[in-house]
Amino acid sequence: MTEVRHYTDRLFAFRCTRPRSLRFRSGEFVMIGLPGENGRPLLRAYSIASPAWDDELEFYSIKVPDGPLTSRLQHIRPGDAIILRPKPVGTLVHDALLPGRRLWLFATGTGFAPFASLLRDPETWEKYEEVVVTHTCREVAELTYGREIVESLREDPLIGEMVGDRLRYYPTTTREASAKMGRITTLIESGEIFRDLGLPPLDPAVDRAMVCGSLAFNLDIKALLEKAGLREGANSEPREFVVEKAFVGDGV
Ligand code: FAD
Ligand code: A2P
Repeated sequence: MTEVRHYTDRLFAFRCTRPRSLRFRSGEFVMIGLPGENGRPLLRAYSIASPAWDDELEFYSIKVPDGPLTSRLQHIRPGDAIILRPKPVGTLVHDALLPGRRLWLFATGTGFAPFASLLRDPETWEKYEEVVVTHTCREVAELTYGREIVESLREDPLIGEMVGDRLRYYPTTTREASAKMGRITTLIESGEIFRDLGLPPLDPAVDRAMVCGSLAFNLDIKALLEKAGLREGANSEPREFVVEKAFVGDGV
């Protein structure tokens, strides 16, 4: 572990050295964890939040008070070790999308993590003319990690110039007052997001999308994207949008 940053009492991010053997595509996830009480590793899926070129790995994590892993993981400090299974997988990858002009990244909560990786990857800026990233959280403080990533992009020596004015950031909150309130699904249905950004409605000919949040969120966005004529893709069959759960265990 090289760095740990706490954002709220429910959110933190940490960085660790990257094992030389680990190669991944930006947007993928790996299994990480700590030694369990029974001697077996206690592992959970985590999106890699750092881009594929980085020498370090970054993760963005929830703290579940009675969660088997995160009740302990939240106490890690620089110098501590974590277990990492170097078998990256996932569908939030460029290979699973057909070429397009505009990339939409729709996240709630820790679902921003894979997009923190993709936004910092030059490939994203080579493949798309414009990128729109939406992040919806209950409270303003929960947006901080994403906002910092977005703000750091323009100063990034590697991709700052590529990004230029091609990134649109659209943060919203649902349970605390902020500049833009509401579920992103509601803002899409009403057309408010398109009016705010001065963009046309979703069009399968130009728009591509990646979705990462709770199961209920994913299902609702998926329905909206399909209504607009976009089809769900996979590594084996690239199409217009891809979806991944940010966590399991929540009902619809
Ligand atoms: P668990 O027993 O795993 O979870 C307990 C309960 O906490 C769950 O039932 C759920 O209701 C809630 N919960 C778990 N994770 C979250 C979350 N991220 N946000 C909100 N509520 C949650 N978690 C991350 O923090 N960052 C990631 O980048 C991340 N990537 C994931 C990628 C995939 C593909 C999947 C399937 C899960 C991912 N998760 C991520 C969730 C992660 O695997 C664990 O569930 C989480 O770390 C909590 O572990 P735990 O053992 O403390 O509690
Ligand atoms: P809301 O506060 O209206 O439930 P959670 O912490 O429950 O995972 O939610 C994270 C963010 O995602 C919250 O702002 C929440 O809004 C929003 N959200 C949760 N479920 C959905 C959904 N089905 N569609 C759109 N947004 C959702």
